[in-house]
Amino acid sequence: MKIIAFYSLKGGVGKTAAAVNIAYLASQAGIPTLLWDLDPQGAASWYLSGTDEIKGRKLAALMDGKTPIGKFIRASAYPDLDFIPAHNSFRNLDVRLDKDDSANTLKNWLAPLSEETSLVVLDCPPSMSRLSEQVLKTADGVFVPVVPTWLALNSWQQLQAFARDKKLKPGRLHPFFSIVDRRKNLHREMVIHRKQRLESGLNALIPNASVVEKMGESGQPVELMDRSSAAADAYRRLWKEIRKLI
Ligand SMILES: Nc1ncnc2c1ncn2[C@@H]1O[C@H](COP(=O)(O)OP(=O)(O)O)[C@@H](O)[C@H]1O
Ligand SMILES: [Mg+2]
Repeated sequence: MKIIAFYSLKGGVGKTAAAVNIAYLASQAGIPTLLWDLDPQGAASWYLSGTDEIKGRKLAALMDGKTPIGKFIRASAYPDLDFIPAHNSFRNLDVRLDKDDSANTLKNWLAPLSEETSLVVLDCPPSMSRLSEQVLKTADGVFVPVVPTWLALNSWQQLQAFARDKKLKPGRLHPFFSIVDRRKNLHREMVIHRKQRLESGLNALIPNASVVEKMGESGQPVELMDRSSAAADAYRRLWKEIRKLI
């Protein structure tokens, strides 16, 4: 079982959009996939529930060892793709993780899933916390969307420093440009010089595209909305690269 995470210190950069589209593409490749929506805002859960209202479960039961993780899992509308919906109690996860001394709680929680799941996709909240520390420690690859702006590059550097500080392997962090708008000079410049601007960045980049925005309306991955769109092609390229790296 491989674990990947979409993570950034910034919100609104395309983590959830990437997590949902990549999880869908993985499942379409016949890989039993589980997307865990770790962000209490629950955007990924909303996409995968077919916009029905779904109720997540309180994490306390999982933490106390009373409820096995399997009980948290819901089937999505797609074969081979399940998800764990977000719940408000995820807000308190950090406090609980702080009290818990065990070496890697997240890894222990996920362990029982290895028989029926081949890929776990973690959709993370934008925070620097105990939870993110565990995500960075546990994941085989952490994929970081970076909008091509100076501020976003700065926040990517902060994330690298955080990882070094916590003695996490920086090689597991993989940035990629996201919500790229080629009409903007700065975006174009950063993409052209991406080897310098975003060292160790992936080749795939996700364009600013209305089809991605419309996921909110349709609740579907872009592959299903318009598979010939540039965005669908970009997510396929991203998935290809991710697959090679993990
Ligand atoms: N490639 C894209 N092109 C256009 N809009 C996008 C793109 N990726 C994300 N968005 C939009 O930006 C907002 C934030 O995206 P989201 O994936 O939820 O970011 P995050 O999870 O990093 O907060 C959403 O409204 C989403 O529809
Ligand atoms: Mg999100």
